[in-house]
Amino acid sequence: MKTEPKLGSAELIELVDRHSAHNYHPLPVVVAEAEGAWVTDVEGTRYLDMLAAYSALNFGHRHPDLIRAAKEQLDRVTLTSRAFHHDLFGPFCEQLADLCGTDMVLAMNSGAEGVETAIKTARRWGYDVKGVPEGRAKIVVCDGNFHGRTITIVGFSTDPSATGGFGPFTPGFVSVPFGDAGALAAALDDPDVVAFLVEPIQGEAGVVIPPAGYLAEVRRLCTERNVLMIADEIQTGLGRTGTTFACDHEDVEPDVYLLGKALGGGILPVSAVVSRADVLGVFRPGEHGSTFGGNPIACAVGLEVLRLLRTGEYQQRSKDLGAWFLERLREEAPTSVTEVRGRGLWFGIELTPAAAPARAVCERLLELGILAKDTHETTVRLAPPLMVSHGDLEWALERIVNALSERA
Ligand SMILES: Cc1ncc(COP(=O)(O)O)c(C=O)c1O
Repeated sequence: MKTEPKLGSAELIELVDRHSAHNYHPLPVVVAEAEGAWVTDVEGTRYLDMLAAYSALNFGHRHPDLIRAAKEQLDRVTLTSRAFHHDLFGPFCEQLADLCGTDMVLAMNSGAEGVETAIKTARRWGYDVKGVPEGRAKIVVCDGNFHGRTITIVGFSTDPSATGGFGPFTPGFVSVPFGDAGALAAALDDPDVVAFLVEPIQGEAGVVIPPAGYLAEVRRLCTERNVLMIADEIQTGLGRTGTTFACDHEDVEPDVYLLGKALGGGILPVSAVVSRADVLGVFRPGEHGSTFGGNPIACAVGLEVLRLLRTGEYQQRSKDLGAWFLERLREEAPTSVTEVRGRGLWFGIELTPAAAPARAVCERLLELGILAKDTHETTVRLAPPLMVSHGDLEWALERIVNALSERA
């Protein structure tokens, strides 16, 4: 067997530049190994991961229970497709529905597929249950949303870099300002509206938290107007914000939960639409599906994720460490920072225009041993794994404040 010569970071990045589409602009670090909250690059330098794959690594890199579940499943059965049953699918659906306090699951893979599935669900529910005339269903979304990258989903994005050059788009979407319950109420006056799709906290927009009471008012309005409240908890869910779901902060139960990212334990893509039987019951055989959706490895890892969440430990760590870190960041933020937003272990650090771009701060953090990611021009986003230690966060705080001070 031919052995590849060992390449360094610069050569490996060169290969990517030459042979991968340039649809990302990664920071110049090439990870070779990872454990817990730390990664090691090909030269052996260690970094604290404060992005956690956009919250897909809530339980850290290679959590031993998740790795064990995946390995054991590799030795049993890896794929059946949904043409046949397998022994973990029923238990996974039952336990995930239970976590969400509802009845049914439609299992998919990527987050975007989950969102697409919810859109189909809402339209079909609108025609079959609500009685909207065929072909007229509308879904209300929020300005600044991020729900994925398919044509339908980017079609209702308000970010020109998501939409430019990709039209024509799927019709049937209306956008209202995020956090504005009055604007939502006005949009819901249209009897053809079947659903409101919302991130309880907007992640990609910069960890934007809506005004207190917004989600509860959304819930009330959706119930009053017979419109499905679809909470995209793909990034906010599964402990990230200090509770199992971000909707829990306002004791709100949406009609539909969208889950992904951490549901696959940072091992494989697992997403799901979770809802009541009267909503997901609209599908009949052959009308929707995915070869890999709900596959045995996804279910084995997903069941272990659900077990970890049932301990409550990750939600509690996120809440306690997050509150402490937010307070310290706010206290120590230099004049280059206009605002620090946060809930649980999830933060958006807003820079002054003079201190931007946020990418430059992330490049400096990389030199200091921290992986973080900018979003838009002025926001540094932090989302460490929920198992990160207090000591690691202390270590990171000093470096983050230093990097921000250099731009003051
Ligand atoms: C709120 C939200 N929805 C959907 C998605 C899309 O998930 P995926 O990248 O797995 O398609 C993301 C990804 O960042 C997200 O943050």
